[in-house]
Amino acid sequence: MENQLAIGVVGVGLGLLLFNKVSARLRLSRAKHPSLAGHSRMAKRIARWIPYYAFDGERFFGADGADAPTIALRRAGFERLSDTFATRFAKSIALTADAAPGISDLQFTGSYRVPFPFSAHVRRELRSASFVQSSSGVTLTDLDGNVFYDLAGSYGVNVMGYDFYKRSIQEGAERVGQLGPVLGYYHPIVADNVRRLRALSGHDEVSFHMSGTEAVMQAVRLARYHTRRSHVVRFNGAYHGWWEDVQPGIGNPLPPRQTYTLKDMDRDTLRVLRSRRDIACVLVNPVQGLHPNAGAPSDSSLVDSSRSARYDRAAYTRWLRELREVCTERKIVLIFDEVFVGFRLAPGGAQQYFGVRADLVTYGKTLGGGLPIGAVCGRKDLMKRYRDDRPADICFARGTFNSHPYVMGAMQVFLERLDSPEIQALYTDLEPIWDRRANALNARLRQLELPVQVANMSSIWTVVYTAPGRYNWMFQYYLRDQGLALSWVGTGRLIFSLNYTDADMAAVSDRFVLAAQAMQRDGWWWQGHGLTNKSIRRRILKEMWQARRAG
Ligand SMILES: Cc1ncc(COP(=O)(O)O)c(C=O)c1O
Repeated sequence: MENQLAIGVVGVGLGLLLFNKVSARLRLSRAKHPSLAGHSRMAKRIARWIPYYAFDGERFFGADGADAPTIALRRAGFERLSDTFATRFAKSIALTADAAPGISDLQFTGSYRVPFPFSAHVRRELRSASFVQSSSGVTLTDLDGNVFYDLAGSYGVNVMGYDFYKRSIQEGAERVGQLGPVLGYYHPIVADNVRRLRALSGHDEVSFHMSGTEAVMQAVRLARYHTRRSHVVRFNGAYHGWWEDVQPGIGNPLPPRQTYTLKDMDRDTLRVLRSRRDIACVLVNPVQGLHPNAGAPSDSSLVDSSRSARYDRAAYTRWLRELREVCTERKIVLIFDEVFVGFRLAPGGAQQYFGVRADLVTYGKTLGGGLPIGAVCGRKDLMKRYRDDRPADICFARGTFNSHPYVMGAMQVFLERLDSPEIQALYTDLEPIWDRRANALNARLRQLELPVQVANMSSIWTVVYTAPGRYNWMFQYYLRDQGLALSWVGTGRLIFSLNYTDADMAAVSDRFVLAAQAMQRDGWWWQGHGLTNKSIRRRILKEMWQARRAG
């Protein structure tokens, strides 16, 4: 009898355990985004399956099933661009072609400017130039003397305008010149930078690193150390640098380990945070407010017109507040990764802009005053790298070049200037100004019935396409033809510096419209009957299937 009771109790216990495990697993599955990016393992498996194939000639111009007159228009337009680029950018293209075989990064970015079936032909016939010689105001000048409006923003480093950073670097170097490149000991400037960063971030302590990636690595490591938990939560599509745990999907040869990639702005995610005990930290990259759950948009994946973006500040703020609440409740470390948006949305960064305080904040990019940097600011208890009662239980972090005097010098100039009335004025009405500029451009594009619009989060813009199309990636070349310089991700991300004046923007807007008109005239936005984003995707699947069978 007693035996039976014991067996019964154990049985019920095991049943409950199993039930709990299964429900936790289901809760986690529900909190994953249905897209492939939400399923890292599957995404990697599928990525390995995708075969290479390339379009040439007729297929290059008619991959959407366009009619013969449209194909002829496109061909003529492409040849015109090709001739123009070859003469106008001759020196810059020649050096790029010469140097690329020795520069792995150039080979990669050169190959991934457009969807891969079109890439080889574009690389051959519409050569890109990656070298420039000078910057001034909001422009860049290439080796041939062509002046471009810079919409690339140096990956987001350029918040205040290039001349600002030139001065910061020069003045910073003068301030530390006596010490030179001494490492290990600190230049007194470090103490001042720490004081300013503590005030600005509202946090107790600061650590310096060499890049944004390293700052995020350190923030996550500290969160794991102090919570004694293993897992990082990142949101679907969010970029946090390129080290293993924050890039669990395509691009990382290792399988995902201790990372949960969950849906952004979604109740299912809050349920997971409320119930699991293995979560050390939640990483937030606030730029995702512009396109929640979507990856950093790049023209290499612009295979149709389904890219979408819309920034709802109030909704995203509510979401961050909810995250704050649940993280506090569950003792999960909330990390704001402000490497990109810090100092761009507000002088006090995203914390100030959204009115939400994180436990740890990472900064990078512009903070170095134009030189390489990463920094973590955080609460005293979370920043501590050792335990008083367990001397061998430490959280290690070094980095030869951390607190490099020249970087610290440029940073000090940057932080000082940030406080100046001249720079503070740049932040006045920042958001309405950039919204007005984006809205004005959109109104012009709509009025001219061009199938292209922009969406923006302050000075960070992305281009979206409003009619189905397989050639939207060509737009980057029409923009370049109009003297607008983009980064290698093309129209996915336009980053403006805050020193753009209304006159500069009017010029950019004129050129943008001219580029769109030329693109339309050349037939790339042909709308044949039956052309939808779905039909384009179906076509691509068929091509892949055929390529696999042929290969
Ligand atoms: C939000 C965010 N975190 C981290 C990084 C990585 O910074 P870095 O390229 O300096 O390593 C980036 C870079 O774009 C970023 O945007």
